[in-house]
Amino acid sequence: MLHIELRRFFFVLILAKRLVARFQAAKDNLEKIAGIPMTKKDFLAKKMVKRIGKEIGAGAYGNVYQAFMNDGQEVALKVILLRKQIDYESATFEINIMTRLKALASENMTNLVDAGVVKGQFLSFFVIFKMSYILGPFPQNSKIREENETLKAVFMIEMGGKQLEEYLINSPDEFLSIFTQICIFMANGEKILELEHRDAHVSNILVEKTAKEETEYVLNSKKYFVKNNNLLVKFIDFGQSRIRDEHGILFGDLRNNSDLFGQALRGDPEDHDLHQTVYDQMEIANGKDWSKFTPATNVFWLKYLVQKLTGFDENGDPSIFPPTEAVQAEMKKGKENPLQENLRKEFAAEIYEKMKNCKSAIETLVKFVECELFKDVLKQSELAVLS
Ligand SMILES: Nc1ncnc2c1ncn2[C@@H]1O[C@H](COP(=O)(O)OP(=O)(O)OP(=O)(O)O)[C@@H](O)[C@H]1O
Ligand SMILES: [Mg+2]
Repeated sequence: MLHIELRRFFFVLILAKRLVARFQAAKDNLEKIAGIPMTKKDFLAKKMVKRIGKEIGAGAYGNVYQAFMNDGQEVALKVILLRKQIDYESATFEINIMTRLKALASENMTNLVDAGVVKGQFLSFFVIFKMSYILGPFPQNSKIREENETLKAVFMIEMGGKQLEEYLINSPDEFLSIFTQICIFMANGEKILELEHRDAHVSNILVEKTAKEETEYVLNSKKYFVKNNNLLVKFIDFGQSRIRDEHGILFGDLRNNSDLFGQALRGDPEDHDLHQTVYDQMEIANGKDWSKFTPATNVFWLKYLVQKLTGFDENGDPSIFPPTEAVQAEMKKGKENPLQENLRKEFAAEIYEKMKNCKSAIETLVKFVECELFKDVLKQSELAVLS
């Protein structure tokens, strides 16, 4: 009996030691790429951040703030609270993947400028006070304590525009330009880095105004020209993405992320949104092997975007899911969607038809080039061969 108890004791001890060692390894890995923790004051001085502005995003992980650097560049500061081992691992992953994504040299994503780890208070007392005021007296103390005690990973990311969720698409030309830019970013990513974004919903794609008329891309020995129609698409949030480069494969392992899957089966459309169905589609397509390159996932997200932005599904039926918040806000004001219903229906039918047998964004792009609908927004020419 004693013998069994002793064995159990040692088993638990070894397990505990292993868990502690793993947590320490996760912390060490983050320190290796983001440096040792420093105070907010030192962080701002070292990274040449002049001023932190308003909050532009919030979630369970932390917050995103607007900030200005000494040279005037505007950046997004993504602040991630490092509570558990997984937080350290996610932060390390995001820094690694964003660093390696610079190989794309793409204007259609926001690049990582710098990153660090901050100890002690980060938020201004005004912000904590505001949060406490909303949350009530009890969380007030815990919020301040958590703010002081929890280390934070801080990413400085090039500032993008407004979420596609909040951007009201004003014309058919705008729709076609946004959609083409998304497709060509994915196609380019597939070609150069075997990129799958794996979370391309309307909050992870930003649009900003640009004076640029046209953007040029080179892909598979061909030049592509995309009309901007005053808009530039910027992808963010590569926390679930997958790439392969000379250092090997890097991917967000979604196997143990039980929150992500099965939501579409669990509830009615009131309880989940369209993007949640895409996680299940991706899981089926790659057989739960998230290291594998399955560019069809990019096509799933393109189809999701057609449904979200046109309000029609692949069968030509009205979508059972809500449109973007920008469109919903317009409807609440008693106004119409600037894109007329019959036009949205036509666009959806034609685009789904072109994408029918596509297994990658590259194949999709090739179909779009041949398509009458895209003729004004997307042009292609052969690369001149230099002799
Ligand atoms: N570079 C950026 N420029 C402008 N806004 C940004 C930028 N990065 C993030 N944001 C804003 O902050 C929000 C949250 O950021 P992000 O999508 O990176 O994190 P998240 O989805 O909340 O967290 P997670 O990393 O856990 O998926 C975005 O939807 C966007 O509104
Ligand atoms: Mg996001």
